[in-house]
Amino acid sequence: MDPITALAEFEQAALASIAAANNAAALEQARIEFLGKKQGRLKDLQSLLGKATPEERPVLGKRFNDVKTAVEAALEARQAIVAKPKVAATAIDLTLPGTLPELGRLHPLTQTVREFQQIMARFGFEVVDDRELEDERHNFDALNIPLEHPARDPLDNFYLAAACTASGKPVLMRSQTSTVQIRVMEQRQPPIRVISLGRVYRPDDIDATHHVMFHQMEGLMIGRDVTMASLKSVLRMFAAAYLGGDTEVRFRPSFFPFTEPSVEVDVRWKNGWLELGGAGMVDPNVLQSVGYDPEEYGGFAFGLGIARFCMLRHGIDDIRLFYQNDVRFLRQF
Ligand code: DAH
Repeated sequence: MDPITALAEFEQAALASIAAANNAAALEQARIEFLGKKQGRLKDLQSLLGKATPEERPVLGKRFNDVKTAVEAALEARQAIVAKPKVAATAIDLTLPGTLPELGRLHPLTQTVREFQQIMARFGFEVVDDRELEDERHNFDALNIPLEHPARDPLDNFYLAAACTASGKPVLMRSQTSTVQIRVMEQRQPPIRVISLGRVYRPDDIDATHHVMFHQMEGLMIGRDVTMASLKSVLRMFAAAYLGGDTEVRFRPSFFPFTEPSVEVDVRWKNGWLELGGAGMVDPNVLQSVGYDPEEYGGFAFGLGIARFCMLRHGIDDIRLFYQNDVRFLRQF
C-alpha cells in the first residue's frame, strides 16, 4: 500500500474510533491504538517515511504531520466532551438525595394562645385584640381603680416619659388586659361575649415565676341575665378542656376594684392548689363608666395568666425560658 493511501486510511479509522468512544476508557483505548508511543499505528506509518524517496519526502512529511495534528485535535475535543457529566447542568437529577427544608414551629406560648382561643370559641367567645400602649382611663379609671390604689404606683408601671395622649395625658404600657373590657364596652352594646389574649407589662424582679412582660387572657360576658353560676361554669369547662376533664377548680373570695363580688380561681395540682387568676361579676361602677345601665345589664369578667397553663401542661419550671429564644428549648414543642 502506498504511504499516502495508508495515511488516509489511518486518518479515517482513527477519527471514526475517536468519534465512537463515548467514555474516557474507550477514548484512552483509541488513543493507545492510533497514537500510542510504543505500538500505535501512527508509529508504524512513521517507518514508511524512512522508505520514501528524497522527492516524495517533503509531500509525505507534510501529509504525515497534517494527519497527526488532525487526529490529536479530534482526540482532545472528544476528551472534553466525555469528561463532562452526562446530565446537563440545568437538568434536575431525581436520583440525588434531597435537601430537607428546615421546618420552624410556633412558640409554645403562641400555641397556648391559639388553643385557648379555640376552646373559648366553642363556648361562643369571640376573640378581640387591642393596644398595648394605654391611657390611665382604660388601664385604671374606668376599671374603678381609685387614685390611691397601689396598682397605680408609677414604680409598679411602665409609664412612657416621652409620650402622652393627644390631650396631654400620661401613657403607659398596659399592666393588665382588663383594659380591653373597657375598649370593647365603649364600642358595643350588650350582649357581649369576648376574650382577649395579649401581653401586659409590669416592672418586677425577674425570676423563675416573674417577668416584666407576660401574657393574660381576659374574658368578658355581658347580658341581661349573666350570673356567677355562668362564670363558674365557663371557667370549669375551660380548665377541663385545657388541663383534662378531671381537673378540680376552686373559687376563693377575693377583691378586685372592677368586680363585685370577686373570686380567685385555683386548680388542683400535685397535692396543692395553683392560682390561675382573678374573676368576678363586673362592678356597677365599671358598667356606668362606659355608659351601660347596671340595672339593665350585668356580667362577669376574668383574667388568667397564660404562661402558667403552658408551664403546667409541659412541665416547664422557669418562665424565663419562654423569652430566651434557645432553640434547644423551642424545638421541643
Ligand atoms: N386584671 C387582673 C390582674 O391583672 C386580673 C383580673 C381579675 C381580671 C379579676 C378580671 C377580673 O377581669 O374580673 O391581676
